[in-house]
Amino acid sequence: MTQDLTPKQALIIDCDPGVDDAVGLLLALAAPQLEVLAITTVGGNVPLEKTSRNARIVSAAAGRADVPVFAGAARPLARPPAGAGEFHGAEGLGDETPTEPQTALAEGEAADALIDIVRSRPARTVAVAVMGPMTNLALALRRAPDLVDRLAPVVVMGGARSEGGNITASAEFNIWADPEAAAEVFDSGLKVIAFGLDATHQVRATEARIARIEAIGGEAARLAASTLRFSQRIERQIVGWEAAPLHDPCTVAWLMRPDLFELRPCRIAVETISDLTRGHTAVEFRVEAAAAPHLWAVSADGEGVFDLIARTLEAAA
Ligand code: BDR
Ligand code: CA
Repeated sequence: MTQDLTPKQALIIDCDPGVDDAVGLLLALAAPQLEVLAITTVGGNVPLEKTSRNARIVSAAAGRADVPVFAGAARPLARPPAGAGEFHGAEGLGDETPTEPQTALAEGEAADALIDIVRSRPARTVAVAVMGPMTNLALALRRAPDLVDRLAPVVVMGGARSEGGNITASAEFNIWADPEAAAEVFDSGLKVIAFGLDATHQVRATEARIARIEAIGGEAARLAASTLRFSQRIERQIVGWEAAPLHDPCTVAWLMRPDLFELRPCRIAVETISDLTRGHTAVEFRVEAAAAPHLWAVSADGEGVFDLIARTLEAAA
């Protein structure tokens, strides 16, 4: 038997589980090429107490209750907390009835933990995947601007360009929920790889794809399939879509299989002033390379992403 000596990509996941966050966490925790150092939580889809509880429920389902979970910001930098309970269930995990996790939260606060972990490792060896409002990352960058030169890669689920918005006509939920934080992150000098609705709407939980995950067996696949089924029902009811889009796992999928996505260099600016277009992401491709610090996902291989999720959960079951 040959041993794989490729170093694992170290990763911190910042999230607000959230049904699609849950699938993203389950994928990352089962991925042989990733080493999840910590999970940090933020208030978003549901309040912070629930996202922090749900993160621990999901990591236990993955058999990874050892991964520390640090609670972070309960509210956006400058706005009242928003919520998206209608798309995630009142408790945030769809049809699941959460019970109190066996593991306590880690001591310390998310932004500080992020700083400490990143500084404890060689520069540019720790990735961050942001799956919720960007409040924790913005706070970390305020406190430790050196993270700009230490973090890489930074992958975020957020924004919308050609697809239009999902919370307002022009804004995607994560950016809309804390536009000031998103603006600070995009303006910080960090190179951000953004997976907005243009890409995530190409990754659809079709009946056949959900059934494949359902058939795997084991707690991680069961939970993933349960949240996907919930999304399928809710998106049919509220939006009228036959198959629900899968957002947050795209960040993890790219870290595992970048070939599943097409990215374009760009500059990303966030609207923070207008009420009408709050949280709109102005994604500008028409700039010189030096003025295009970010990458925007323009397309995704939906079948490939679901195949990756199914294979990864199968191998870990
Ligand atoms: C994003 O918003 C949240 O509701 C999802 O978890 C995802 O992070 C999609 O717009
Ligand atoms: Ca999320």
